[in-house]
Amino acid sequence: MSLVAETDYGTPPSTGKDAVNLTIDGFAVSVPAGTSIMRAAMEAGVKLPKLCATDSLNAFGSCRMCLVEIDGRAGTPASCTTPVAPGMAVHTQTERLKRIRKGVMELYISDHPLDCLTCAANGDCELQDTAGEVGLREVRYGYEGANHLEQAKDLSNPYFDFDPSKCIVCSRCVRACEETQGTFALTISSRGFESKVSAGVDEAFMQSECVSCGACVQACPTATLIERSVVQNGQPEHSVVTTCAYCGVGCSFKAEMRGDEVVRMVPYKDGKANRGHSCVKGRFAFGYANHRERILKPMLREKITDPWREVSWEEAISHTAQRFKDLQARYGKGALGGITSSRCTNEESYLVQKLVRAGFGNNNTDTCARVCHSPTGYGLKSTFGTSAGTQDFDSVMQADVMMLIGANPTDAHPVFASRMKRRLRQGAKLIVVDPRRIDLVRTPHVDAAYHLPLKPGTNVAVLTAMAHVIVAEGLVNERFVRERCDWDEFQTWADFVLLPQNSPEAMEKSSGVPAETIRAAARLYATGGNAAIYYGLGVTEHSQVSTTVIAIANLAMATGNIGKPGVGVNPLRGQNNVQGSCDMGSFPHEFTGYRHVSDDAVRGTFEKDWGVALDKEPGLRISNMLDAAVDGSFKGIYIQGEDILQSDPNTSHVAAGLAAMECVVVHDLFLNETANYAHVFLPGSTFLEKDGTFTNAERRIQLVRKVMQPKNGYADWEITMLLSNALGYPMHYAHPSEIMDEIARLTPTFAGVSFAKLEELGSVQWPCNEKAPEGTPVMHMGGFVRGKGKFILTEYVPTDEKTGPRFPLLLTTGRILSQYNVGAQTRRTSNVLWHEEDRLEIHPHDAEVRGVKDGDWVKIASRAGETTLRALVTDRVATGVVYTTFHHPSTQANVVTTEYSDWATSCPEYKVTAVQVSPSNGPTDWQKHYDELSRSSRRIETVAAE
Ligand code: SF4
Ligand code: SF4
Ligand code: SF4
Ligand code: FES
Repeated sequence: MSLVAETDYGTPPSTGKDAVNLTIDGFAVSVPAGTSIMRAAMEAGVKLPKLCATDSLNAFGSCRMCLVEIDGRAGTPASCTTPVAPGMAVHTQTERLKRIRKGVMELYISDHPLDCLTCAANGDCELQDTAGEVGLREVRYGYEGANHLEQAKDLSNPYFDFDPSKCIVCSRCVRACEETQGTFALTISSRGFESKVSAGVDEAFMQSECVSCGACVQACPTATLIERSVVQNGQPEHSVVTTCAYCGVGCSFKAEMRGDEVVRMVPYKDGKANRGHSCVKGRFAFGYANHRERILKPMLREKITDPWREVSWEEAISHTAQRFKDLQARYGKGALGGITSSRCTNEESYLVQKLVRAGFGNNNTDTCARVCHSPTGYGLKSTFGTSAGTQDFDSVMQADVMMLIGANPTDAHPVFASRMKRRLRQGAKLIVVDPRRIDLVRTPHVDAAYHLPLKPGTNVAVLTAMAHVIVAEGLVNERFVRERCDWDEFQTWADFVLLPQNSPEAMEKSSGVPAETIRAAARLYATGGNAAIYYGLGVTEHSQVSTTVIAIANLAMATGNIGKPGVGVNPLRGQNNVQGSCDMGSFPHEFTGYRHVSDDAVRGTFEKDWGVALDKEPGLRISNMLDAAVDGSFKGIYIQGEDILQSDPNTSHVAAGLAAMECVVVHDLFLNETANYAHVFLPGSTFLEKDGTFTNAERRIQLVRKVMQPKNGYADWEITMLLSNALGYPMHYAHPSEIMDEIARLTPTFAGVSFAKLEELGSVQWPCNEKAPEGTPVMHMGGFVRGKGKFILTEYVPTDEKTGPRFPLLLTTGRILSQYNVGAQTRRTSNVLWHEEDRLEIHPHDAEVRGVKDGDWVKIASRAGETTLRALVTDRVATGVVYTTFHHPSTQANVVTTEYSDWATSCPEYKVTAVQVSPSNGPTDWQKHYDELSRSSRRIETVAAE
């Protein structure tokens, strides 16, 4: 195996339409107008020396290495900044050019440490390569004069080193930070010989605005910016292309390895979701795979107060199967259930629901998407006919207006946020609907046109008021609605939104957003050109969330912003495989492809394929399983890759449900918080240790490739298969590709998907079938999947969760860039340096009246429970609203959230909890008790498995 090579063409491709013909070194070449001579040469196989150019960045023309001669033109222009012209005759290898290049290179090397043999970049250094290419063999100037060789290193970042003594001031890092990442953390300060790269205001990287995305490190042609893992472990030897296991962007990476160890993750240029970019999590936070707390042996215990006992896989599987059979014999078929996770591959999720339906004989299967994006499925299916976002990420580059609702992409979907920022810098307009002043409201070179800081829980009010403006002011795209939607339903909806109670003025009181701002935002969305809606968990984790998704769809249909590039309705999925886990039939009422279990024809195809009769009644959702456990009818659960105790609402109720069960099986990488209540622990494998697929927020199915053997002995799909076989329902797959073949056989929207096709095309977006053999980047072109688009009334119903004298503030929750969900992975990496603990954001006014100062411990209490954490006093949140993240188990933010949930899907109302905040001396009794339980649960007997 070798490193996956990617050609660097020096400058980005041109989007020019007309072809331009020229000659380069006598070869006839034809390229699109606007292409640089450098790129035209590289595409024709003529390599030009270069240092400041790279094809992910706009040409800069500073290093003078890429000079060419052109017949009829004086001088030696830089090929990276000179576009091709018809009939041009270019020469790249004249004696004059060779002499100039060698002289320039000599100057670079005379101010560069000559430690190539011991340099970490030896063998992967463009300066070294280019010196060789231009034939430099000696340097005449020596080191006597002024130089930069003694400059101090900046080792403040845990993941990369900055050694300015090796810098050639090519500014690729600065441009990567601006163009690719959009953070503008770097500058070239001073001029001439004094020029140097500075982070922030000449600060250490960790003190600057740098978000550690690594784009500058990737762009650097020397060892000036280099991954610490390469410095410590040496240059990688081989690589495997795979998919990030963190968020729903689905970045594609080359896992670069030495032997069986990952040296670094390098974003893959051909990855269609990320186009060669990444964030700090995907690029750097992979060390959890080797963390000492990872459990690699199966473990059992009789009671949850017993210490764990390591056992063999055989014993663990047969014991679990026996316990499950006993429970069903004693309490009936419905006493068991299974939960899969959006962290797992499609194939793993598919097998868990198959185990439940065919092996347990009931439909008690659910997924953690229940608590995040289940309403997306419901809302978009009802209106458009498909439970998924409508666009690919590339589409944003054709948007003129973006409306961002309840999403914070710079923290939760960073690579997509960089694409958004790029488009915004090109002039697109932004509307932000969010209780907090998220970064995108104002960030370098981005200034949102409107920020609607609504009160948590009032999305439907604001969106329906926007619809009121669009209808009242005649901004409806009537031609689109008449052609593509049900006209009668539209008229009923239009009459409804026109009611006085739906006007911005009427909704101002409930939402807190000035009527004029709602009106202005509605006008911009309806008339600003291509308008695209992106939304996140700030939409989906409310009691009226299915209604909100419907309200969003209504706006898009009314304005014709659906069914073409640059528009659409796009849920930003939280975890890597939220879309996939939903597609795979993980919900209790649906088979793969969102088909109801009561549909006899559909169920019949599964029964025939699986050789077993299936239940036609929908099974229990997660919350119903926990209720049934407390009531005594639900006794055993298999939980793969999900920490429901930390991630689900109303922790004490989850704990009570788990404690009431007789056999809790946790299948995970670490002893997570749910494992405190487990009787069986089955160690899981990381995404680096298995094959499979993830489906990102664009419906893009991408391969996850095994880069090392599973340290626990089995990939997760194999463990589910072992359990199913032990239970008596046979499963025999030799490879996840066979599972995908079965999914394709049984699922019309996946009929054309296979591992072979994914190998060939890199990725496909479903639907992928006979009608769309290479997938579907943009949905609903020419017609909605359900036929006519359906307008549905969206009456605003205030949540039952009300503030009052006892609980006067509204708590809303979210994520931070460096951490991921409950932090199981990222807390076990150096990412903790950015976020060691969850903090409570509180407005200065609310803090002052409570006597709370920045950094103080505060108690936050709701009617569900209370917890303590430290305060962060900030005006990012409005008065009356407090905010926290939920990444740390020591905080247990979900102790406070309540049992309220969406009317249609039971998605919990994480984003609205009435609370009181008061000064505190430190952790509550509950937290202390919980810490003690955690410690005792982690005791593992030293009886090793054979
Ligand atoms: S740090 Fe690297 S990319 Fe930045 S200017 Fe120096 S050599 Fe160029
Ligand atoms: S790591 Fe990313 S954010 Fe930080 S300086 Fe480099 S490009 Fe900018
Ligand atoms: S966490 Fe998301 S944005 Fe970051 S690298 Fe992974 S997929 Fe990309
Ligand atoms: S590569 Fe063209 S001037 Fe540097």
